[in-house]
Parts: sequence; C-alpha cells; structure tokens
Amino acid sequence: MMNTRVIFCLTLAFLVSEAHMATITITNNCASTIWPGTLTGGGGAQLSTTGFELASKQTRSLNVAAPWTGRFWARTQCSDASGRFTCATADCGSGQVTCNGNGAAPPASLVEFTIAANNGQDFYDLSLVDGFNLPLSVAPQGGSGPNCTTSTCSGNVNSLCPAELAVKGSDGSTIACKSACAALNQPQYCCTGAFDTPETCPPTNYSMIFKNQCPQAYSYAYDDRSSTFSCTGGANYAITFCP
Ligand SMILES: *[C@@H]1O[C@H](CO)[C@@H](O)[C@H](O)[C@H]1NC(C)=O
Ligand SMILES: *[C@@H]1O[C@H](CO)[C@@H](O)[C@H](O)[C@H]1NC(C)=O
Repeated sequence: MMNTRVIFCLTLAFLVSEAHMATITITNNCASTIWPGTLTGGGGAQLSTTGFELASKQTRSLNVAAPWTGRFWARTQCSDASGRFTCATADCGSGQVTCNGNGAAPPASLVEFTIAANNGQDFYDLSLVDGFNLPLSVAPQGGSGPNCTTSTCSGNVNSLCPAELAVKGSDGSTIACKSACAALNQPQYCCTGAFDTPETCPPTNYSMIFKNQCPQAYSYAYDDRSSTFSCTGGANYAITFCP
C-alpha cells in the first residue's frame, strides 16, 4: 500500500529526473567585444538572460532547464551612443542589451539546440541559412553517440562574400554576409515555389560559398543532414565565437 511518504518520494524522484539542467558555456575568442543573444523557441520561457556583453577572451555560463529549444548568436559593433542600444550585425531590435524574446536580424551565424528532457537525445547545429556574421563552434562536453562531436565553422565567409551579399561596416569592410535568399529573393535560393523540396532545391553557387568555408554548418534551407549533430545522456555544451 502506498502511503503519503512513498508517493512524496516518487514525486520527488520524478521531478528531479525532469529537472535536468544543461550548462551552455559561451566564450568570446574574437579580438573585439561581442554581445551574445539567446532566444527560446516553441513558446517556452526565455533563459535567465536574453543578451549580454562579453569582452574578448571572456566566458559566461548559462543553465538551461530541459526540455528546451532555442538559439544563440552574437552581435558585433554595438553601442548606445544614440540612447538606444544598436549593433552593426545581428541586432535584435530591442534597443537594449537584452533581446527580451526578439531574434537576430539576419545576417547572423546561429547555434540551434533542442535539449531533451531526462537525458534523452539532444540535437544541435550551426546554421548559416540566415547568413553569416562571425565564425563559431559548438562542442559537447560529456554525452554520447556517434554524432556527439564538435561542429565548427571557422572559415571567414566575410572575406569571400560576393558584393551582392555583403553588409559593409562604417569603415567599408565586410562585416556580415547575407544569404542569397535574403539578398536576391529568388525561389532557387529560398527553396520556394517549384524549388520547395530537397530534391528540387540543390546547392547553388552562392550556398557553396558558405558550405566551402563551413562544411559542418547548414548553408541553405535544404542543405543535407550531414550538418546535424546529436548527443544523449545529458551533455553540456561549449559555444565559442571566433574558434
Ligand atoms: C551565381 O550564378 C548566377 C546565375 O548563373 C550569376 O548571375 C551570379 O553572378 C553567380 N554568382 C557567383 C558569386 O558566382
Ligand atoms: C549521424 O550522422 C549521419 C550523417 O552524417 C547519419 O547518417 C546518421 O544517421 C547519424 N547517426 C545518428 C545516430 O544520429
């Protein structure tokens, strides 16, 4: 017969197993300060921070309560000189250092996560589908599985970005590279209309620029599955900008 104490203990065990936390550590290995942003997807609660300043060579850790789905990116060349916080790349439009549920304005290199409850199977990837602003990597710490490995995008797409995709900084240098879909808005680049399946939307000369620099990242909407990574067993993850 189950007494109240047994039921209490079972409930507690259930709550503890549900309340798996993944630690996401974010490191700025770039020469300049960056302002990482976080966005919870799927209508879940935002993380304890949705945006913060991270000086060169600094690291900050965040706890994520599983299950969780969402993304991370980094803003560059931010200032609040005008009384409103704005960034030259990947701005989230909040006017503040925190993004408060806003995502990054493209172009922005993204780390995307689905963290499973109960130490189940997590998925993560690097995406350049919304363009590129900074090189980045994501490395699992612990966890297991054949695809539980580091995904790195260390190539500098900005230096090879064609003029029609380039976003220029105030000094005239290329500070981000738009996706061909965003810049040219044609169905073969956006995988829309007659191009709306993986079979009918092959890589293009533009998506190949991203793919050649960052083979482990998604380069366009129907890029092949070689870019998805997964871990089981409750891994933590380290994100590095400018790895
Ligand atoms: C890509 O191909 C299109 C169509 O053939 C062409 O107009 C464009 O100049 C090419 N761009 C690059 C960067 O090769
Ligand atoms: C690992 O990735 C490869 C493709 O890169 C895929 O074919 C395979 O199914 C994946 N394995 C697991 C266990 O997800």
